[in-house]
Amino acid sequence: MGKLEGKYAIITGGGKGIGESIVKRFLEDGIGGIAVLEYDLNLAKEMITRLDTSDAEVLAIQCDVSNDNQVEKAVSQAMKHFGTVDILVNNAGITQDSMFHKMTDEAWDAVINVNLKGAYYLCKHVVPIMRKNAFGKIVNISSISAFGNVGQANYAASKAGLIGFSKTLAKEGGPKNINVNCVAPGYIETDMYKTVPTEIIEEHIKNTPLRRLGKPHEIASVVSFLSSDDASFLSGQCITVSGAATT
Ligand code: CAA
Repeated sequence: MGKLEGKYAIITGGGKGIGESIVKRFLEDGIGGIAVLEYDLNLAKEMITRLDTSDAEVLAIQCDVSNDNQVEKAVSQAMKHFGTVDILVNNAGITQDSMFHKMTDEAWDAVINVNLKGAYYLCKHVVPIMRKNAFGKIVNISSISAFGNVGQANYAASKAGLIGFSKTLAKEGGPKNINVNCVAPGYIETDMYKTVPTEIIEEHIKNTPLRRLGKPHEIASVVSFLSSDDASFLSGQCITVSGAATT
């Protein structure tokens, strides 16, 4: 029996990279159904064709997580289809890196609005469902950059914000059997990471005691664990999955 059997999930930004790996891992762990909320609907649809969805239904829903109306509609669409939400993974995220003294207001707002406010909107619409069910698992994807990374003041603030947000929701949700945790990935081989200059990639690898970049599936396995009853007494934590790198 898969450890996510009979459960229904919403995963944001599930069309590629870490999000796609989480969808794949949830399917391997026997999930009942997943609503993938993606800004780019085609990306989600193409991703679904790459996966073995014979035992579960994966629904692609277009959604800009920084838009409250779109999030509300997407959550009701998932509810209409699956009847419940047991697991929420806030994975959607963007970067707009620059040194802070060159950072524009637009770059600050865009990153905070997707990475932090997006998770807020999802929780705003999903937490009431979980409270009613007296069951829920929320995993927010933070980052090693939450602890400070040159060129990422906006991203670091959004990802650090997610940690405080999660710890608070864990304290408030505990009495309703809702577990809330963060995963803070280190440097992972994804399209997002491809924007990093080569010499900085070399520096990141040198600063990673396991001496390599991580793979998306190495994040997905931890997210699946946190979403399962194997982690039933684990809540309010931020688990750094970074090959022992600290920043
Ligand atoms: N510490 C302090 N100062 C530094 C520095 C460092 N590590 N690196 C560069 N600087 C200084 C430079 O010496 C330079 O100083 P001067 O202006 O006085 O000459 C100044 O910063 C600007 O340097 P650049 O000319 O290289 O600046 P740039 O504007 O071309 O690029 C940058 C800056 C965009 C931040 C670029 O260096 C960059 O992309 N860095 C990588 C950021 C990063 O790690 N992103 C992670 C993306 S992956 C991800 O986010 C996923 C996740 O969760 C981890």
